[in-house]
Amino acid sequence: MNEVVTPRLLKRWKKDGRPIVALTAYDFPTARILDEAGVDVILVGDSLGMVLMGLQDTVNVTMDAMVHHTSMVTRAVKRALVVADLPFLSYHLSPSHALSNAGRLMQEGGCQAVKLEGCRPELTESLVDAGIPVMGHLGLTPQNIRLTGHYRVSGRSEKEHDLLVEQASIMEKAGCFSLVLECTMPDPARVMTSSITIPTIGIGSGDGCDGQILVLHDIIGLSTSPPARFARRYAAVGDEIRRAVESYAADVRERRFPTAEESYGKAK
Ligand code: KIV
Repeated sequence: MNEVVTPRLLKRWKKDGRPIVALTAYDFPTARILDEAGVDVILVGDSLGMVLMGLQDTVNVTMDAMVHHTSMVTRAVKRALVVADLPFLSYHLSPSHALSNAGRLMQEGGCQAVKLEGCRPELTESLVDAGIPVMGHLGLTPQNIRLTGHYRVSGRSEKEHDLLVEQASIMEKAGCFSLVLECTMPDPARVMTSSITIPTIGIGSGDGCDGQILVLHDIIGLSTSPPARFARRYAAVGDEIRRAVESYAADVRERRFPTAEESYGKAK
């Protein structure tokens, strides 16, 4: 459990059949809790745009925001592999633009790897060639939302199923050390997982992946919009915060706070 997690270790775990536990984190205190709790992979996802910043989608998340949050997370983490998302348009303009943005996430943010959406073999090769570990992300790719207009499950048709399996193989050959599979049907996810040697980490893609990832705020009851059906709820932290804040407000208004013990010096 104490072994520092690396891309190579994730591949070994796939071979050994050890499930990979992944969650998102965007700041120091939550990243520390996740790391101490034994989470294997911590993703500084561009989902922070919706979860933390109240944006309608991930499109407006900037490189500066990603670097800022990645550096908070990496300062807290001792064991987990920290992966940071390359945000919208940060890897599309040219390979050198992508390289310098991925480099910023690693050098300024301190992450061990970057994640990019879609089937992008040439780009992946050039990042890997420069020494940057790349996690791929296939299936639902939220950065395309303004093009597609909606979030949908992929791999229902035979054509989509085959395309996903082909893309997984292409991204493995390009040098990805792992693939996130978002909202694919369970069957193609299972076939992708068994047909490649790198681990798949599913979100809303069924139980056939090598690991699972969820957005932390969804599973602890702190998200602002209703979570998707696959985001199992483990706590009601939002309700706890509300209760604590209401109690504090009542104590201040009723002059029950602060007491002498909560003040410096002797009460008059
Ligand atoms: O940004 C994110 O949180 C993600 C996960 C949904 C995998 O990409």
